[in-house]
Amino acid sequence: MNYRKLGRWGVRVSEVGLGSWLTYGGVMDEEQSTAIIRYCYENGVNFFDTANVYAAGRSEEVVGKALKPFPRDTYVLATKVYFPMGDKPNQSGLSRKHIFEQFHLSLQRLRHDYVDLYQCHRPDPETPLEETIRAMDDLIRQGKVLYWGVSEWSATQITNVVRLCEQMNAPKPVSNQPLYHMLARSIEREVIPVSEQEGLGQVVFSPLAQGVLTGKYKPGQPPPSDSRAADSRQNMFMQNTIREANLERVQKLQPIAQQLGISMAQLALAWCLRQHNVSSVIIGARTIDQAKDNLGASGVQLSESVLTAIEEALE
Ligand SMILES: NC(=O)c1ccc[n+]([C@@H]2O[C@H](COP(=O)([O-])OP(=O)(O)OC[C@H]3O[C@@H](n4cnc5c(N)ncnc54)[C@H](OP(=O)(O)O)[C@@H]3O)[C@@H](O)[C@H]2O)c1
Repeated sequence: MNYRKLGRWGVRVSEVGLGSWLTYGGVMDEEQSTAIIRYCYENGVNFFDTANVYAAGRSEEVVGKALKPFPRDTYVLATKVYFPMGDKPNQSGLSRKHIFEQFHLSLQRLRHDYVDLYQCHRPDPETPLEETIRAMDDLIRQGKVLYWGVSEWSATQITNVVRLCEQMNAPKPVSNQPLYHMLARSIEREVIPVSEQEGLGQVVFSPLAQGVLTGKYKPGQPPPSDSRAADSRQNMFMQNTIREANLERVQKLQPIAQQLGISMAQLALAWCLRQHNVSSVIIGARTIDQAKDNLGASGVQLSESVLTAIEEALE
């Protein structure tokens, strides 16, 4: 496993990170979840991502408990705040009140004393940015959060927050967590260039397009019965990706992976990692075999001619 800095900051994260949306604490039982988290840790993954909202807090419980046996200075634990945790007025968003209250509940669920990376899951247009920045600053000064980041913020929002941190003499966000994969490339236009300039690294989510880029979904065929797309508890976020045109493009990638002697998942993850502003690709893994396959992407270099062949396949 190779490691990269989170943007220009000193902390290092594994090129492949492990996420927990839908899976750990969600559709998977705790024993299976713990086994995969342990496998990833033992094979070099040091970056673990969760969120307060995943499985209504249960994901934080499972991830925190699974990591607990390992020395605290050997992993980077990331969680998030923003999405509603109840239907009352102050149970969502990025107000100082919600951030402080949710953060302490996250610590309890994780059974940890501090979080390495605390991320604003989405921008909150209802809350002044200075309120959110000062809340993060205070948690950092208290030693409860080491770094803070954002998720799915636009280039303009990233520029604005960095400028305001400078004016407020507050710590700047170190990372952005956007959607990024071969079929969803919007961050290439502005978010990556601006982040590079402002020192943030991308920790990208759904780099396999939720499994679509593994090639297991075939055009004109029903999804495999044990896949996310076949599971009504999980497939509601897949409609945009699992379209026939995408499945056909993905099949054109098969010969490229075959020629390189790597799996489709490794090709898709190594493709994201070709961007040096990407600090980590955050995968989901439902089995140890999937985790093993995906971890193999770290260190795979794609030549210019391979990248061109991929562009042609995706056209
Ligand atoms: N910030 C945000 O708003 C946001 C949003 C979404 C996700 N995330 C983060 O990103 C993480 C990853 O997202 P994701 O789960 O969508 O990532 P993903 O890696 O694109 O998809 C993971 C799913 O693909 C399938 N899969 C994975 N490896 C495979 C392999 N080698 N062969 C075949 N199938 C494979 C598995 O599902 P099946 O086997 O069940 O088909 C697995 O659960 C999340 O856990 C979360 O931490 C963040």
